[in-house]
Amino acid sequence: MNFTERARKLRADIVEHDRRYYVLDDPSIVDAEYDRLFRELQAIEAEHPELATPDSPTKRVGGQPLSQFAQVRHEVPMLSIQTETDTGPSGAAQFDARVRRELELPADAAPVEYSAELKFDGLAVSLRYENGVFARGATRGDGLTGEDVTQNLKTVRDIPLLLTGDAPPVLEVRGEAYLRRDDLARYNEKALARGEKPLVNPRNGAAGSIRQLDPGVAARRPLRFFAYGIGAVEGWTLPTTHGGLLEALAAFGLPVCEHRAVARGAGELAAFHDRMGEMRASIPFDFDGVVYKVNSLALQERLGFRTREPRWAVAHKYPAEEARTVVVAIDVQVGRTGALTPVAKLQPVFVGGVQVTNATLHNEDEARRKDVRVGDTVIVRRAGDVIPEVVAVALEARPMKPSARDMFIEEPAHPPFALPETCPQCGSRVVREEGEAVARCSGGLVCPAQVKGALLHFASRRAMDIEGLGEKLVEQLTASGRVKTPADLYDLSVPELAALERMGDKSAENLAAAIARSRETTLDRFIFALGIRNVGESTAKALARRFGKLDALMAADAVALEAVPDVGPVVAESIVDFFAEAHNREVVERLIKAGAHWPEGEGRAEAAPGPLAGRVLVLTGTLPALSRDAARALIEAAGGKVSGSVSKKTDYVVAGEEAGTKLDKAREWKVRVIDEAALRELVKKG
Ligand code: IVH
Repeated sequence: MNFTERARKLRADIVEHDRRYYVLDDPSIVDAEYDRLFRELQAIEAEHPELATPDSPTKRVGGQPLSQFAQVRHEVPMLSIQTETDTGPSGAAQFDARVRRELELPADAAPVEYSAELKFDGLAVSLRYENGVFARGATRGDGLTGEDVTQNLKTVRDIPLLLTGDAPPVLEVRGEAYLRRDDLARYNEKALARGEKPLVNPRNGAAGSIRQLDPGVAARRPLRFFAYGIGAVEGWTLPTTHGGLLEALAAFGLPVCEHRAVARGAGELAAFHDRMGEMRASIPFDFDGVVYKVNSLALQERLGFRTREPRWAVAHKYPAEEARTVVVAIDVQVGRTGALTPVAKLQPVFVGGVQVTNATLHNEDEARRKDVRVGDTVIVRRAGDVIPEVVAVALEARPMKPSARDMFIEEPAHPPFALPETCPQCGSRVVREEGEAVARCSGGLVCPAQVKGALLHFASRRAMDIEGLGEKLVEQLTASGRVKTPADLYDLSVPELAALERMGDKSAENLAAAIARSRETTLDRFIFALGIRNVGESTAKALARRFGKLDALMAADAVALEAVPDVGPVVAESIVDFFAEAHNREVVERLIKAGAHWPEGEGRAEAAPGPLAGRVLVLTGTLPALSRDAARALIEAAGGKVSGSVSKKTDYVVAGEEAGTKLDKAREWKVRVIDEAALRELVKKG
């Protein structure tokens, strides 16, 4: 196959994979494979620019950041819809009655036919296709003039760059750019890991993404699109109904939401409203109501408009998902992994038909950004099945008090929110890794919030391998308070175990034996069993190999740790934080006292020697970042020796500022002189 054919095949395959993923929700390949195809196409097009077509999927990414958006005048205005605030079935009846009255239908005339759809909760956009090619995309703006967001909309994978079938010379497609809740959650996880701000909710996320000046940023946001109408059209005979129009748009390859129906009369409208209301939590994106549109386009024309709203459509909402209430307190919850989440305790309020007493503030930065304080009146929002969240503070209602400095000046009665420095569950130090939005309790082994997970991990097969210690037992042992840390396991007696639910004498004996047996282990398993954040099995092995002794690992600083293969600054920090916590060290000591043991130095002996094994180094002068001790630790951790004087046995002299006679000696003995940067390279590679 030549490049032309390969590029064509890749383009077709990628378009089909996009359709499967975004439109059918049924991908047939894994993400990594997709990325590979995509990169191959990018590479071919970079080598042979003449092969790139305007509708190539590679055209979706990239583009230059803009300083501002150009204005776009909508040939056909983008209207809004009248909202029916009566959220009950009578809401549908009122709209139907209005339509019948406007059309002057007699009481016994047949029911009016409607197209019933969802009211998506995102951002309205207009897509202009010229001869089937996506030519321009715009926001709604004030309805008459919007912003040119073509570059960003090109990054939305389910917006076709080329329509399928017999596309007219001009077709403007109107619809909603939105985010699915699951896509948003996945995006936020990655964003947090990258140290970026999470998106607050799907609606803001969609709007913010479309209005991104940097299309590279927009491209990373998992936006999607649903078509629900049209604007300007040239050279196309329209179907006769709105339902038919949606089908025609779908046939052009545009995503049209499957949750739609043709309904006759108010009863069927109300039934659709109900049915969709019940499905709300299971539909993966937010919608705050349904939309009814008179189905016949001829009748739509007869009904016409009232200022900016058509008389032929209405949005029939669901009970408000936002409500105002007062923050009584701000608690800090500790999750299974030690993550600290600030939670606003609220005066109970009904939101979308459910009583809400708690709302998440996500993390410290979010709580500060929104500046939520005790006593504040806040707007809480509940969307679908997600945890209620505080959207904003009604600042005008904030309780104030006279300032202590000047009684004529008022200041907020409560201070800004701050996370505690110690864990509210166990008193261990709270740490926040660099670039992470989430703060965590460092007491992994002792924190009640984390102890169940810690015990299960400790007992797992690849860790201490305590057969029979499963979830149910851990639940009982921790609920009774009998086991608070892994060390407590070794104090359990057979009768105590036998007294547990569904525990026979025989199983109690077996479990006790398994616990006793687990004392004999290896250093790497023991390290892994501690459940230090970011320390998996292979890192535990590397640490055991390098340090040989638990004491050495516990005493190591970040520099020495980073000299271990695969250990970067984040992992090193996790290890330092873990052993810096006295509670954790106590548990480790108790475990050793309880008899946990392993062949001393074994891991080290059988393992590959450090990169500096057998090398002798001499330190002289002041190094830019490393102290003498840190440099020594670094070298020793890499298996090297530090000597006080230069001789012919010296392999390297590490010289900093104001190096003295040792440097002269080095020259005399023709020993290699290196700086700190070179040392850091050496301990990595040897
Ligand atoms: S039709 C002439 N259909 O609601 C009516 N709009 O107030 C033009 N919206 O921000 C709009 N879902 O983006 C229509 N199924 C739907 C919709 C929908 C959501 C939004 C639209 C606009 C607002 C109109």
